[in-house]
Amino acid sequence: MRTLSVDLGERSYPIVIKRGLLSEVGSRVIGLGFNGRVAVVTNPTIANLYADRVMKGLKGAGLNPALITIPDGEEFKSLNEAGKVYDGLVRHRMERSSAIIALGGGVIGDMAGFVAATYLRGVPYVQIPTTLLAQVDSSVGGKTAVNHPSGKNLIGAFYQPKAVFIDPDVLRTLPERELKAGMAEVVKYGVIWDEGFFGFLEKNSGVIYSIGRETTHAIERSCEIKAEVVGKDETESGLRSILNLGHTFGHAIEAVSGYGTYRHGEAVSIGMVMAAGFSARLGLCSSDVEARLKGLLAVLGLPVDAPDIPAEALIESMRLDKKVSGDKLRFILVTGLGQVVLKEAFEADVRGFLLSFKKA
Ligand SMILES: NC(=O)c1ccc[n+]([C@@H]2O[C@H](COP(=O)([O-])OP(=O)(O)OC[C@H]3O[C@@H](n4cnc5c(N)ncnc54)[C@H](O)[C@@H]3O)[C@@H](O)[C@H]2O)c1
Repeated sequence: MRTLSVDLGERSYPIVIKRGLLSEVGSRVIGLGFNGRVAVVTNPTIANLYADRVMKGLKGAGLNPALITIPDGEEFKSLNEAGKVYDGLVRHRMERSSAIIALGGGVIGDMAGFVAATYLRGVPYVQIPTTLLAQVDSSVGGKTAVNHPSGKNLIGAFYQPKAVFIDPDVLRTLPERELKAGMAEVVKYGVIWDEGFFGFLEKNSGVIYSIGRETTHAIERSCEIKAEVVGKDETESGLRSILNLGHTFGHAIEAVSGYGTYRHGEAVSIGMVMAAGFSARLGLCSSDVEARLKGLLAVLGLPVDAPDIPAEALIESMRLDKKVSGDKLRFILVTGLGQVVLKEAFEADVRGFLLSFKKA
């Protein structure tokens, strides 16, 4: 078992990582000082697999839990569905001190966190992430949101959980494509922060999906890095933006190809290779860095070649997403494995690079 800490003064909280942790959820929630009513927010897919165990654990510890489900899918991360969760909380007579438990992937975590931030002007919540992406990324750091028809995550709040409980064993039921998509974010931590960790992933790429010791280590190190970054810059006024490596290109690929074509992590995988390629072209790093990153992502089963999208469409999308000033776009670029830098680049340079980048 590892217990990490996100250090944010009075908003600090633990991240507990332990195989089999789901069976201890009752005593863990009691250990945080909660009693009485709690609400578990999840979706039917996850409820079928894990709700029995979680509800039994909570009841066994003397808590009074309600189960609130929203349909499975990104399209339900909406204000409309949030409204139904509020209805459930009112029905269960949840009070200021009652805790919400987010049991699920990033969609559930973001939505339950947003509801927790706003119901009764804020109630405590606990994250129990069940996808790899949620375990290494979205459950840590307090970004909560729902989508608006005109854009993703447009309505949200920074609102930190009281604890994050990670049980790597739940990844055994996760579809392979979701597991791989989450691994892109794991690789990202090696590139932005820790060359040694990148090397560990290269060395263990053959066993990293087996949900064994190496997988648990990858989750722990990822959470450690995210906790350190968030501890230094909670609201993304500076350092935290390095977590967006691969996201400027990645978001554009997701948006132009139509949401749903790529999983977020898949688009980030291609986006990171593009960021490294662009960095090499600008002379910020050697082409060896790009080659090692591309090699690792490919061996992990992630896409690394750009879809056949016109450069102009990608630039137009990036302009909407990350416009800085005049004809410059903002990127996290790679200066070496374990090192990145925030840079603005001329659209003309981006265009030149996109025209040269290998298409799938
Ligand atoms: N808050 C943040 O900092 C942050 C960071 C990155 C992404 N996000 C958000 O995360 C969301 C994507 O999250 P995601 O990739 O986890 O997708 P997701 O929550 O949609 O989960 C993917 C699929 O896996 C299923 N699932 C989850 N756990 C399972 C398990 N253990 N076994 C079997 N099936 C399981 C889900 O029901 C779903 O069908 C997006 O909305 C994105 O905006 C937030």
